Amino acid sequence: MRLLEINDLTVTFQTGDGEVNAVNGVSLGIDAGETLAIVGESGSGKSQTAFAAMGLLARNGAARGEVLFDGQNLLTLPQKALNKVRSTQISMIFQDPMTSLNPYMRISDQMAEVLMLHKGMSKRQAVTEAAQMLDAVRIPDARARITMYPHEFSGGMRQRIMIAMALLCKPRLLIADEPTTALDVTVQAQIMQLLGEIRRDFGTAVILITHDLGVVAGFCDRTLVMYGGQVMEEGTTEQVFAAPSHPYTQGLLSAVPRIDRDDDELATIAGEPPDMSHLPAGCPFSPRCDVVRPECPGQRPPLLAFGAGRRRACHQPWTEEA
Ligand SMILES: Nc1ncnc2c1ncn2[C@@H]1O[C@H](COP(=O)(O)OP(=O)(O)OP(=O)(O)O)[C@@H](O)[C@H]1O
Ligand SMILES: [Mg+2]
Repeated sequence: MRLLEINDLTVTFQTGDGEVNAVNGVSLGIDAGETLAIVGESGSGKSQTAFAAMGLLARNGAARGEVLFDGQNLLTLPQKALNKVRSTQISMIFQDPMTSLNPYMRISDQMAEVLMLHKGMSKRQAVTEAAQMLDAVRIPDARARITMYPHEFSGGMRQRIMIAMALLCKPRLLIADEPTTALDVTVQAQIMQLLGEIRRDFGTAVILITHDLGVVAGFCDRTLVMYGGQVMEEGTTEQVFAAPSHPYTQGLLSAVPRIDRDDDELATIAGEPPDMSHLPAGCPFSPRCDVVRPECPGQRPPLLAFGAGRRRACHQPWTEEA
């Protein structure tokens, strides 16, 4: 059994301007200890897929489908049981640490609270454990600094604290939504290295949501590409980068600057990202696709398995040798 398996997930939002179809039939899975990247342009439904899975959609949103964690469907789990899974088995970290840290509370109190509540520890035990976790994420002088407030740390340090907090209950799955986007490149690299160590030391499975393909290449076992709320392709990171099988992925990759090529101009994908309230009935990428076929706008290509454990949704024939 996979650790997390999402089947045919859809997310719709009701707005004054009509219905927004943010996620349209996403299926994905991750095994224990594995790392999966979800990549795609802004608005492609990456975050809402994660939020829906965790029962964290905005009030105007509704999710359908199945989100199996250890075989239990989180979408139909009673609130109390869901809270237990979310506090002890799955953790989420966000782009902005201040959304998870309380500015008015000392780090020691915020972290201890979690352990006292979910692990029944005494305050003293909890603070000791919290300091150890800060040590693990390389906060220098953790024992002394744990009594400080969030604003007394730099952005990179706050991100580490948030990761420490997310790991306190030793979750089996960590969902990191753009965890390094707000940080400078050096700190970004340090945080990614830290996530790698955590995965190795604790065996935590990680879903990394990002639009930064550079981050994915060095970190994730598998990569899943989303567009218009749908999965365009999935494979090992190596497969997807070395031989992208979907025209959208090909465009996305050729838009990444490369030091080994002397390109005068960076390729971009012509056209606009899709309007999520008026998606075509067929492939959402068809209006921007270079190799569009007559059936593409009207008929949604199914996400089919091919090659060595890959999947792709495209009417254009493709072979690994091509
Ligand atoms: N509460 C809401 N009401 C209406 N539409 C929403 C709501 N929340 C999100 N959306 C829409 O859902 C779509 C998918 O959003 P999502 O946040 O998943 O994108 P994303 O892929 O994470 O993008 P980014 O890289 O910018 O974070 C977007 O079109 C967004 O505008
Ligand atoms: Mg997002």
